[in-house]
Amino acid sequence: MKNILFNAYWVTEEADGTFKNQIIQRNTDELPQNGVLIKVAYSSLNYKDALSASGNKGVTRRYPHTPGIDAAGTVVESNSTNFNPDDEVIVTGYDLGMSTMGGFGEYINVPAEWVVSLPTGLSLKESMILGTAGFTAALSMHHLIRSGQKPEDGTLLVTGATGGVGSLSVAIASKLGFNVTASTGKSDKKEYLERLGAKSIVERDVVDDKSGKMLLRPQWAGAIDTVGGNTLATVLKSLKTHGNLACCGNVASPLLSTSVFPFILNGVNLLGVNSATTPMNVRKELWAKLSGDWKPNFSSIEIDMVGLNQLQNKIEKILQGGITGRVVVEHKCS
Ligand SMILES: NC(=O)c1ccc[n+]([C@@H]2O[C@H](COP(=O)([O-])OP(=O)(O)OC[C@H]3O[C@@H](n4cnc5c(N)ncnc54)[C@H](OP(=O)(O)O)[C@@H]3O)[C@@H](O)[C@H]2O)c1
Repeated sequence: MKNILFNAYWVTEEADGTFKNQIIQRNTDELPQNGVLIKVAYSSLNYKDALSASGNKGVTRRYPHTPGIDAAGTVVESNSTNFNPDDEVIVTGYDLGMSTMGGFGEYINVPAEWVVSLPTGLSLKESMILGTAGFTAALSMHHLIRSGQKPEDGTLLVTGATGGVGSLSVAIASKLGFNVTASTGKSDKKEYLERLGAKSIVERDVVDDKSGKMLLRPQWAGAIDTVGGNTLATVLKSLKTHGNLACCGNVASPLLSTSVFPFILNGVNLLGVNSATTPMNVRKELWAKLSGDWKPNFSSIEIDMVGLNQLQNKIEKILQGGITGRVVVEHKCS
């Protein structure tokens, strides 16, 4: 068993119920010995990480803790014949960064069942530009396509479009030939969304209907919703007949108040998306697509490369809905 000192972002629960964070030095022998020790080259910041870093017990049950639901790096030790030292690998989801020490540490130790070999065609850094956000965008597309969604059906709406999942959804759907409308609260990000491939852009208010009507003018053939709450309800009411909606986020609200009419009159499909529990066969299939036909043009995505000591600032920003694109954490350990 290796004994290596490493740096980690460390969240503690104080006696007064508040949460503090700092960068500390740890030893790999303090990590739970789950089977595969990985030296993390890159992680990324997702909304869920910010919840974990700020003491959300729905995400992280026990503190002290190191968040980071994403990690990409090289295997150091492995108890599985599927992985050997120096193999380049990705870990996203499962319990990583929730109650298992995550990618905001320079080393993680995880079960072999969580580990995916880095697909040919993606670098470690690119895999974390995608991270859970890109994987969730791909999983949303996977569900939509499996439900019959086709570009010729009409416009595909993406809400929360400048965020991580939103940006990657716009980029991937556009690459697959869908006519994408992006909804955003950031009026200054029109050019960015067009660069990602959006054909039109609407203000966030357009998909936040307050009329109380049970159904609205059918506008969208399909949608990927990262926002939840009244936005999700509005999009459901505005889907065309037999439209599909991939529901993957709740930045505005986890609540959904709706009637049965979108379902029984318009025959729409509400599709649940859970990236963390995606079975390994689908994971491998989607990572292969993300390194091939579905690989977005990385130069069009806003990417903020940060070290561990710059992370807190980004965590506060993502909680305020202020991030555009992706924040990638680069570990510079030797
Ligand atoms: N189901 C899954 O497996 C899965 C996986 C990953 C993430 N998620 C969820 O997906 C959501 C997005 O995650 P993310 O990492 O992409 O976060 P993010 O980068 O912060 O993106 C969220 C975006 O939503 C918009 N937004 C923020 N607050 C809003 C509000 N109050 N009302 C309306 N829009 C708002 C903003 O975009 P605009 O300014 O462009 O509107 C923001 O950039 C989160 O709820 C996250 O938990 C789910």
